[in-house]
Amino acid sequence: MFSLKGKSAVITGGGSGIGRAISVLFAKQGAVVHIIELNADAAKDTVSEIEKGGGKAVAHGCNVSDQQQVLDIYNAIGEIDILVNNAGIAHIGEATTTSEEDFTRIFNVNVKGVYNSLFAAIPLMKSKGKGVILNMASIAAAVGITSRFAYSMSKGAVSAMTLSVARDYMADNIRCNSISPARVHTPFVDGFIAKNYAGQEEQIFEKLSKSQPIGRMGKPEEVASLALYLCSDEAGFVTGCDYLLDGGFVKLNN
Ligand SMILES: NC(=O)c1ccc[n+]([C@@H]2O[C@H](COP(=O)([O-])OP(=O)(O)OC[C@H]3O[C@@H](n4cnc5c(N)ncnc54)[C@H](O)[C@@H]3O)[C@@H](O)[C@H]2O)c1
Repeated sequence: MFSLKGKSAVITGGGSGIGRAISVLFAKQGAVVHIIELNADAAKDTVSEIEKGGGKAVAHGCNVSDQQQVLDIYNAIGEIDILVNNAGIAHIGEATTTSEEDFTRIFNVNVKGVYNSLFAAIPLMKSKGKGVILNMASIAAAVGITSRFAYSMSKGAVSAMTLSVARDYMADNIRCNSISPARVHTPFVDGFIAKNYAGQEEQIFEKLSKSQPIGRMGKPEEVASLALYLCSDEAGFVTGCDYLLDGGFVKLNN
């Protein structure tokens, strides 16, 4: 079950955290993994880990916000069975404390980056007669979280794009779903704690862990397991769905 043998998988942001765990697991299951990364060294690092385990992967230095770069790389890859839109960046701020520059930066990576990958990958999937797309959304798209204005905006857009694509390309045998994690312990979380809560790192880490009723943050590997199911042939009946992976954050926080 859950074999990806013979499949070509494109994973954005595969150099770190959730994207790295997905890349490693998909390669272990037999896919040839293409890592699309702003941080080319981090992508190469993931490729080394995959190759050490006997898998196949290629690192592509790329900014997902740049449509021409994305088109050139995806067209050179040629065959794409699986696309995981995972690259994303965080931001803390309210509507009145988010600068236009920050709003645009978040939009360009988290929204336009997803659109660019869809724009480039879907025609390749259509010409193959099938494909699977998985978008990394967030619980921030479903509930109001303090001071996550631009980030929540971007993940709400990811949820809407998931439904739109699932509807429009159903007849082309392309499925599209999303995962909405609560807090997952990755460099993304450590980075924004360090940047926004200098000097209080431990207390904030503890607070963020406890905001999941299950009492801890998720692990990147736990997201990767669900990603594998959703991108496998075994999930052939699943499309247009968002999956909470949240230690009870949305439904059990009472
Ligand atoms: N960690 C969490 O708690 C959490 C929760 C919910 C959703 N998410 C989402 O999961 C995804 C992955 O998060 P993570 O925690 O693994 O983050 P991370 O920071 O560990 O990894 C993100 C990767 O994306 C890459 N990236 C950033 N901008 C890029 C760009 N413009 N082009 C190409 N690559 C780019 C980074 O270099 C990095 O390697 C993000 O979309 C994030 O919003 C994370």
